[in-house]
Amino acid sequence: MELNLKDKYALVTGGTHGIGKAIALALADEGCSVAVCSRTSSRIAETERELKAKGANYLAIHADVTLKKDIDRVFKTIINKWDTLHILVNNVGGGGRWGEEDIEATDERVWQEVYDKNVTTAIRFIKLAIPYMRRQKWGRIITITSIYGREAGGRPWFNIAKTAQTALMKNLALKKDIVRYGITFNSVAPGSIMIPDTGWDKERKKNPIAFKRFVRQNFPLGRLGTPEEVASVVVFIASEKASLVNGASILVDGGESKVF
Ligand SMILES: NC(=O)c1ccc[n+]([C@@H]2O[C@H](COP(=O)([O-])OP(=O)(O)OC[C@H]3O[C@@H](n4cnc5c(N)ncnc54)[C@H](OP(=O)(O)O)[C@@H]3O)[C@@H](O)[C@H]2O)c1
Repeated sequence: MELNLKDKYALVTGGTHGIGKAIALALADEGCSVAVCSRTSSRIAETERELKAKGANYLAIHADVTLKKDIDRVFKTIINKWDTLHILVNNVGGGGRWGEEDIEATDERVWQEVYDKNVTTAIRFIKLAIPYMRRQKWGRIITITSIYGREAGGRPWFNIAKTAQTALMKNLALKKDIVRYGITFNSVAPGSIMIPDTGWDKERKKNPIAFKRFVRQNFPLGRLGTPEEVASVVVFIASEKASLVNGASILVDGGESKVF
């Protein structure tokens, strides 16, 4: 299937590790120009190396996107270089393991910080992207949510932040004055994804045998997902072929969630 991504410019927030990096590399494989932005220089350098090895046209920008001034700078850098943006992937998020299991022992600021990292950051990028997408009558805005943006579970601050992201994308998908310019809004909701040096990998390292048993018992496929499996779905949603997909929240979870 020809996805027609060769003349497109994309920003994947984060994009230097885990799901975001897999998305950036998968878009580059389709010939798309890709910008990534994150905080850790070594991750940025490694991602640059991988994008360069693919012969990709790319931008790698050092930024903390919880800061509005960094978001503005990331966007300005892209527009100065490329003059437009076709695809925005709101990937920065998380906070599923922030705070304590016990909500009474968790500081109130955690609720706000997780909300801001997931929701406020996405809103700021979306507001900057829409005028360019409207001008060119084409755009794809995709937010990486979670199964906990679709059903109850996990820590409550994460659950409400991811649910808010899902609602945001569906709400914007209904805005006739935007979507009739060829702009679509969708969310991709991963289940448990195995990523080196993050949550599930740390659990596995603590007790590999118990972890294997836990996974076999609790996940329909008997394994966790990979970032590349999420990226494949995002790349399709970002393509011209997905023009009728608007307002969807697509589970990529191997059947883990309980929603229909
Ligand atoms: N992993 C899972 O099982 C899973 C499941 C469901 C949903 N998700 C969602 O998928 C998304 C990606 O998660 P992931 O697991 O792939 O995370 P990850 O492996 O920790 O990677 C996060 C990426 O975002 C960057 N980043 C984090 N905070 C940032 C900030 N303030 N400013 C700029 N860049 C920042 C990181 O780089 P730096 O740290 O260097 O900045 C990195 O490139 C999140 O929205 C998460 O909630 C993940």
